[in-house]
Amino acid sequence: MEKLSTKYLGLTLRSPLIVSSSRLTSTLGHLREAEDNGAGAVVLKSLFEEQINYYVHAISSTSGYPEADDYISNYVHSNSVYNYLEMIRQAKKDLSIPVIPSVNCYTAKGWTDFARNIAEAGADALEINVFFLPVDRKKTPEESEKLYFELIENIKKTIKIPVVLKIGFRFTNILYMLDQFYNRGVNGVVMFNRFYEPDIDVDKLEIIPATVLSHEIERRYVLRWVAMASAQKIRIDISASTGVHSGQDAVRYILAGANSVQVCSVLYNKGISYLKNMNQQIAGWMDEKGFGSIDEFRGKLNYANYHNPDVFERTQFMKYFSSYE
Ligand SMILES: Cc1cc2nc3c(=O)[nH]c(=O)nc-3n(C[C@H](O)[C@H](O)[C@H](O)COP(=O)(O)O)c2cc1C
Repeated sequence: MEKLSTKYLGLTLRSPLIVSSSRLTSTLGHLREAEDNGAGAVVLKSLFEEQINYYVHAISSTSGYPEADDYISNYVHSNSVYNYLEMIRQAKKDLSIPVIPSVNCYTAKGWTDFARNIAEAGADALEINVFFLPVDRKKTPEESEKLYFELIENIKKTIKIPVVLKIGFRFTNILYMLDQFYNRGVNGVVMFNRFYEPDIDVDKLEIIPATVLSHEIERRYVLRWVAMASAQKIRIDISASTGVHSGQDAVRYILAGANSVQVCSVLYNKGISYLKNMNQQIAGWMDEKGFGSIDEFRGKLNYANYHNPDVFERTQFMKYFSSYE
């Protein structure tokens, strides 16, 4: 469907729907299924920074006699990294849609040289799934923010392919951070990741993971910031993520200004083939509203274009709350 085509990171996607990083993108079989059912691109399951560091250590320490335990753990980790690079190469051979590997990182140094291996394997872009949880009460917000900037500077020195940061929404000033990312050469942001959160089982008196899959109501944490960020003068691309459970949800994020939309939980619930329905829902909505291309309606309801932009700045809203009193 030509009319669903969109630009993201300078790449042409045949659909704005990207299958986001998860087990659903961890095998070639799944990647092919995503392509066969109309995905615009795929983001591979994240490789963890620890895995990369083990790998780099393993291939650089050829002269010593490491302890057996170290050797085995290095072997296991380096093997999984080797398989990851191999999957990128194979996916690039087999698929015609863009293939975007992902690295899950929590420090700004150490692993970044490895990004070159990912680029050399043929990746179309690199998504960095990054979140530095501020657990040290003595650290200032500036110190935490600096970690992002160091990371970007290290990565941009190393690779030429587009770099995307997949971030959380808990910044003091998200729009400021996006400007800083853009000024340092970041090509896109995924707004936002949905991190592991702890919950409590009151029967077992244990900490358990909070719900793993999202619900569509979680769009409420995302929409405002996509609408605000897409209205700025900077041209950082936006991939909206969290709470997309239908074609209509994807349309909502595009109307708010997203260049692409990532889907995960809905495909766990309904199967990867549900991408086909979602593309049809987007196309059906476009027909109904008379839009011939994604660009015709992208950002139509963002902060710059909506007739009443105040709605994006409101956090307390008398009328909204009064209907519940
Ligand atoms: C089981 C599972 C595994 C995930 N693994 C990763 C991962 O490896 N890297 C990553 O960046 N995001 C990961 N995510 C987050 C998703 O890519 C996505 O950003 C998040 O689920 C929000 O999108 P959704 O509302 O469409 O589910 C995972 C999500 C789930 C449910």
